[in-house]
Amino acid sequence: MTTTSPTALITGASAGLGRALATALAERGWTLVLDARGADRLAEVATELARVTTVEAVAGSVADRAHRAELAAAVRFHGPLDLLVHNASELGGSPQPRLEDLDPHTFETVLQTNVVAPAALTRQLIPDLVAAHGTVLAISSDAAVEHYEGWGAYGASKAALDHLVGTFAAEQPALRWYAVDPGDMRTAMHQAAFPGEDISDRPVPESVVPALLRLLDTAPPSGRYRASEYAVREVLA
Ligand SMILES: NC(=O)c1ccc[n+]([C@@H]2O[C@H](COP(=O)([O-])OP(=O)(O)OC[C@H]3O[C@@H](n4cnc5c(N)ncnc54)[C@H](OP(=O)(O)O)[C@@H]3O)[C@@H](O)[C@H]2O)c1
Repeated sequence: MTTTSPTALITGASAGLGRALATALAERGWTLVLDARGADRLAEVATELARVTTVEAVAGSVADRAHRAELAAAVRFHGPLDLLVHNASELGGSPQPRLEDLDPHTFETVLQTNVVAPAALTRQLIPDLVAAHGTVLAISSDAAVEHYEGWGAYGASKAALDHLVGTFAAEQPALRWYAVDPGDMRTAMHQAAFPGEDISDRPVPESVVPALLRLLDTAPPSGRYRASEYAVREVLA
């Protein structure tokens, strides 16, 4: 089936930033293919958004090769892919271990989820993105460029993700490729990174979405951006 509305695949769309971005794109009439591991919570989000647009929920882990094939098939059912959002991410423990205490299995899971999976999914979907002159948006982190105790595995994975985005951009210049640091957000992942801390001063993920939409709308050159650079400033009368 080919739809006329633009289509986006958003990974990790049942909570936090992924859910907030999916909601905003649904309100714009985008057709959405969404994933997350927890089927029930994903189904709740899909049911809510299906009131305003076409939504397909495909539950599974991006780290699972068979699930990625299901996602690609779901995308193809709806036609060319205008936007691929790599948002699902693995933190690697709570509290996060220092590198000397990091067990290899955790490190592998972080790299599989945050690096190998987005690379593989992108590779699978390049023809679908090319057909739509599409955009790839990878959600990065300041940990990709700064060094914090305990953030070694996650930071290395986000640095690698940034690098992949840059290389894909060099190899496929007809598409737009963005790695975006959203900044701190009040989400389950952020709470896991700061166990026991009051994170109520962090902005909600919905507050980052206007910057992402502005980036997509203005389509700057491919590259790495901070969402704060695209923040929509309030005009004071
Ligand atoms: N929050 C921050 O302060 C912050 C700062 C910088 C960057 N980021 C980045 O922003 C992005 C969104 O984070 P968030 O804070 O919004 O996270 P979140 O609220 O914890 O939500 C994560 C979402 O991803 C899904 N998910 C996790 N692992 C998955 C997997 N292997 N396969 C498919 N779905 C998976 C989760 O659902 P299930 O658990 O059911 O799978 C959930 O829907 C991430 O890339 C994160 O690294 C966050």
